[in-house]
Amino acid sequence: MTNSEKTTVLITGANKGLGLEAARRLGEQGWTIFLGSRDEGRGQAAADKLIADGANVVMVPLDVTSDESVADAVRLVREHTDRLDVLINNAGAPGRAVTPADATADEIHAVYDTNVYGPIRVTHAFLPLLQAADNPRVVMVSSGGGSFAVVTDPEQPVSRMHELAYSSSKAALNMITVRYAQALPNIKFNVATPGEVANRTFAATDMNHHTGQLTVTEGTDSIVRLAMVDADGPTGIFVDRLGPVAW
Ligand SMILES: NC(=O)c1ccc[n+]([C@@H]2O[C@H](COP(=O)([O-])OP(=O)(O)OC[C@H]3O[C@@H](n4cnc5c(N)ncnc54)[C@H](OP(=O)(O)O)[C@@H]3O)[C@@H](O)[C@H]2O)c1
Repeated sequence: MTNSEKTTVLITGANKGLGLEAARRLGEQGWTIFLGSRDEGRGQAAADKLIADGANVVMVPLDVTSDESVADAVRLVREHTDRLDVLINNAGAPGRAVTPADATADEIHAVYDTNVYGPIRVTHAFLPLLQAADNPRVVMVSSGGGSFAVVTDPEQPVSRMHELAYSSSKAALNMITVRYAQALPNIKFNVATPGEVANRTFAATDMNHHTGQLTVTEGTDSIVRLAMVDADGPTGIFVDRLGPVAW
């Protein structure tokens, strides 16, 4: 099989955590992995490990908050392929847990730059490569905290976590995904949350100081499933590894 016949995927923030595990799992499927990392050294170290295990990986320096970095990433990916089958917008920032009374626009702007403008920046720049694929798919990695249904459920611990930036950024990402899905029906745009919403669990990564109850493999089940949806598959849906999540 030549490189151009393989399924290609770009994963942002793939040097560690869920992004790296998604890269490992999709690499095992024989896909060509464009492993995005804002830090070249850590990205290359992560890529080298996957390559040593037999995966086909190209490390792509990619800071989702920088137009220049994203443009460079497009150029690098184009050196290897003329189409992108799957884009996984995984890179995310938790922000500091500042109470709404103390939150400032500056504080929130930094989180939005990564979690909201980042996926828009990357998606927009890679649209031509995605449009060139037969069954293009975009997976947005969101959170149960981005769901109005979850955040307003008193049984959910997140309803008692008082912050503005992270949850509202993921809610915005959810709406952005729906709007892309409606406007671009030839591309599948879906939202994955790594946790199990019904069980109030999440995946242990650096982002939560490894307090999550799920493994990164479990945390990537929803991401990998959406990355692999076929031409008849859904668009504009929000799922965790157990099934649909209420918006
Ligand atoms: N863990 C969970 O259960 C859970 C639950 C809900 C949602 N999520 C979402 O899942 C995604 C992955 O998180 P994780 O749990 O795997 O956390 P993580 O281990 O902290 O990974 C976050 C990744 O995002 C990257 N990143 C941050 N800012 C970036 C930027 N400006 N440009 C490029 N990459 C950037 C990080 O790079 P550096 O290493 O350079 O910092 C890292 O690779 C995030 O979107 C997060 O919000 C996770």
